[in-house]
Amino acid sequence: MKVLIVGSGGREHAIAASVAKSSRVDKIYCAPGNAGIGQLAECVPIGAMEFDKIVGFAKEKEIDLTIVGMDDPLVGGLIDELEAAGLRAFGPRKNAAILEGSKAFSKDLMKKYGIPTAAYENFDHPQDALAYLEKADFPLVLKADGLALGKGVLICQSLEEAKEGVKAIMLDKQFGTAGNRLVIEEFMQGREVSVLSYVDGKTIKTMTSAQDHKRAGDGDTGLNTGGMGTFSPSPFYTPEVDDFCQKHIYQPTVEAMAAEGRPFQGIIFFGLMLTEKGPKVLEYNARFGDPEAQVVLPRMKNDIIEVMEACIDGRLEEIDLQFEDNAAVCVVLASQGYPVQYEKGFVISGLEQFEGKDGYYCFHAGTSRSGEDIVTNGGRVLGITAKGRDLKEARANAYQATEWISFDNKYMRQDIGKAIDEA
Ligand code: AMP
Ligand code: GLY
Repeated sequence: MKVLIVGSGGREHAIAASVAKSSRVDKIYCAPGNAGIGQLAECVPIGAMEFDKIVGFAKEKEIDLTIVGMDDPLVGGLIDELEAAGLRAFGPRKNAAILEGSKAFSKDLMKKYGIPTAAYENFDHPQDALAYLEKADFPLVLKADGLALGKGVLICQSLEEAKEGVKAIMLDKQFGTAGNRLVIEEFMQGREVSVLSYVDGKTIKTMTSAQDHKRAGDGDTGLNTGGMGTFSPSPFYTPEVDDFCQKHIYQPTVEAMAAEGRPFQGIIFFGLMLTEKGPKVLEYNARFGDPEAQVVLPRMKNDIIEVMEACIDGRLEEIDLQFEDNAAVCVVLASQGYPVQYEKGFVISGLEQFEGKDGYYCFHAGTSRSGEDIVTNGGRVLGITAKGRDLKEARANAYQATEWISFDNKYMRQDIGKAIDEA
């Protein structure tokens, strides 16, 4: 069969690597893809938001399955457009992708269906938000309602800071229309865990757990980024935590979406906080995490195409989802200066070292071709993933593999997975 993947990051590279392993797949296309994906797929210069072109391409090439990896096109309704053209597509429709597309929607859903999450209020007008702040306890959390490249969340320590935040989000529109509504939320403390799951509208099957490192600097300092590294599984995600979440969070979310007339088919990514009072939902995403996918997918034993088709056809119950009994760590190689300002266009060397090495992966995020060379083309450049028998071995392997690669201004965190020493 012919598969089209929509997206261009490390996540889409990890998806492409899984798709390439499927015995059912003859040809992979990616729109727009990147230099690494180009080794597995034919990349076509169509942007992820160019819906007409994507639909036209999928029709012309008689694509059997389109997998949409990114949040923006999902929230914008790309799945609906593909389906309207009679094409098969993996991902939630627009009315279900709202689970990620509107934080106010997801908070109201959790409240209505008793799914544990931080206490909150939604605001449509800045003056109401500012009045609320005067009586609030700090720290608290401000969240722009819509998609904001993972940057629309501000943790405010004081009234002053929070007022500035409301102004930035709702008046100055720092995150554009994402800030038309605002969620003000209770600050929670605990360990964060990401749990990704396959969903077919009624059945949910969760994948192995992972943990992201969102801040740019060691020791969780510096600015929030798209993610500087991940490990899987999380030792803090115990069988007891899993039991609780299956019962009180995962299945209830799927049932809530169905009850609202928004059946969810695709990936639900549960961002969880393990608080003293039990696990609570930080956020939902409607897609694989990036870089969570880079540690979760290499450990999945199933044929990804079979699982995705089961989601589309409502047969997920028949799938026995299985993961390897090992661990994986992904260290992101970024450009110095990310996420603020950085230079691009530096030649990357050492990529060939990954060839033929089992259990080592070099997922491309911001790379492009320049003649014979592959050069840096973004803030997050590569995701270096390695497996090991346990997390410690995986971490040692991943850091060793980061040494194989060189480019000017290469930057990485040195403490990805360090928390596992405390487990
Ligand atoms: P989100 O985009 O909702 O995942 O938020 C980004 C990051 O902000 C999360 O990964 C958390 O580290 C942090 N965060 C979000 N909401 C809260 C909260 N209610 N309490 C504490 N930290 C939060
Ligand atoms: N790693 C967090 C995300 O994909 O949103």
